[in-house]
Amino acid sequence: MVSVETVFKRSKFSWEDYFSDKKKGGHRFSTEEFLAKEAKEKLFHLNGGKTLLDFGCGAGELLIYYAPYYEKVVGVDFSRSMLLEAKKKVLKRKYENVDLLLADDRTVWEKLDTKFDQITAAGVVQYLTPEQVDSFIRNASAYLSEGGKISFFDIIDPKLYSLWKIGWFSQDFIPRDILLRVCTCCVKRVSAFLENRPADIIGNSYNPNQIESIARKNGFQMEYAKSVYYEYRYHAILTKIP
Ligand SMILES: C[S@@+](CC[C@H](N)C(=O)[O-])C[C@H]1O[C@@H](n2cnc3c(N)ncnc32)[C@H](O)[C@@H]1O
Repeated sequence: MVSVETVFKRSKFSWEDYFSDKKKGGHRFSTEEFLAKEAKEKLFHLNGGKTLLDFGCGAGELLIYYAPYYEKVVGVDFSRSMLLEAKKKVLKRKYENVDLLLADDRTVWEKLDTKFDQITAAGVVQYLTPEQVDSFIRNASAYLSEGGKISFFDIIDPKLYSLWKIGWFSQDFIPRDILLRVCTCCVKRVSAFLENRPADIIGNSYNPNQIESIARKNGFQMEYAKSVYYEYRYHAILTKIP
């Protein structure tokens, strides 16, 4: 019989391991048409600047759409396989204004030699702990040009995500299926806990006020915007409090 001690002495899950062989960023659709639309929404919020740091750029699925609008783009990720995919796309498009760096949220800063007008991270906050979000904002602050912004795109809203999971936003919403979905979610959560892995690949979710309070602590104000393409995600656009 497996003892309680054995169950709790579980191997440590890490997002770095999880992403080490991944090649896609997990967008709802991976068609060029959809990704171009997603990138356009983000470019609307970025709203200019000449230099962009795309932290957690993954396979460059959004970065390649940002690149034509910036003089310089630096893509950063801790996954070699993701960066390799990004590199292929950059070479295919013959972009000469893009650098790709292998680094994580701690090591990236020592690898940068310039400030940025925009620092962005799309679909990445969910893989950071609150402490990591805090230190990311603090470090990023030192690498922002005057008037620069930090844009965290596609943060998971826990309330909306739970509703989405049980099918609340579905077009063919059937009330009797909800109980079944709630039960399935509970079972998945318990087994994930026992196996010391996340219940799904979505990672951490944050209420907007949690991100806002971390931002304020670091001298930033936050603008909230709902994601157009994901019912349960939102964007947090941070600017320094004057
Ligand atoms: C869901 S993917 C999104 C990729 C890309 N931003 C996009 O929207 O297509 C998340 C990416 O963040 C990277 N990532 C997660 N945590 C990271 C960390 N602490 N440091 C560096 N990269 C990280 C992963 O390797 C992965 O490529």
